[in-house]
Amino acid sequence: IGVVQIVQHGSLDEANRGFVDALKERGYGPDKVEIEQENAQGDQSNLKTIVSRFKAEKPKLICAIATPAAQAAANEIKDIPIVGTAITDYTSAKLVQNDERPGGNVTGVSDFAAMDAQMELAAKLIPQAKHVGLIYCSSEVNSEVQANQMKDYCKKHDLAVEERTVNNVNDIQQVAESLIGKVDYIYVPTDNTLASSIPTLMKITDANKIPVIVGADIMAKDGALAALSVDYYRLGKQTGELAADILDGKVKPETSPIQHQKDYTIVINKQDAEILGLTIPEEIARKANMV
Ligand code: TRP
Repeated sequence: IGVVQIVQHGSLDEANRGFVDALKERGYGPDKVEIEQENAQGDQSNLKTIVSRFKAEKPKLICAIATPAAQAAANEIKDIPIVGTAITDYTSAKLVQNDERPGGNVTGVSDFAAMDAQMELAAKLIPQAKHVGLIYCSSEVNSEVQANQMKDYCKKHDLAVEERTVNNVNDIQQVAESLIGKVDYIYVPTDNTLASSIPTLMKITDANKIPVIVGADIMAKDGALAALSVDYYRLGKQTGELAADILDGKVKPETSPIQHQKDYTIVINKQDAEILGLTIPEEIARKANMV
């Protein structure tokens, strides 16, 4: 089995660990299968090299972690099952024909948490908000999908959106500074470019007391105020189960619908709430995972 992950960061590492654990529980442990782990360190050309090697080695199955990794694998490899995990939207990323009937060699599990629920959490934490900032990387289709849903929600709820896109991590500081004094909070989706740069962003936002709401639990652990997110370890386990079903010959990718996680975890960063001088409503504190 070949595993290709776009970059090293908490959410993706957790999904990876869950994938390996579930396979082992299903009888595909180290005694039975060799799992080759590859990480592209966020580099597109590394992705190409890894995928070409997998193509030559012909593993029984490939697990692709995050959208760019799955796109690279799916572009090159058409005759080996590819199971995705931590992928926002398979159809927009052109990984499948549609979520119900993928139609090719790719299927998997999505990490998209309902945008309404994410925005309602933000509304409870920052009830007076009228202007919302949005930061993401313009070349990531996974972020674009989340950004579009976020903007739809804001339109319906009379919230003005200040949208900013970055090309790479070097743009983050400038973009964050451009939002000072203009927004009541900032939303950051599960964006692979921003994933490792939450601390950079927080330096500016904390100094200016701007709350940051994020799409993944790990980003709240990294310093952002709050997230409503899937549990990435469980997501990985679900992916491993699916992979085992494929290896067992029980299901085929082309007819195996994209799976979702239906229950979400709320993560609140206590220390950041303190920095911001924000009181967490009792109703949220009770069900949240306080980190
Ligand atoms: N959903 C992202 C994708 O489709 C990957 C991802 C999952 C992610 N969790 C994250 C990115 C947390 C950044 C931060 O590519």
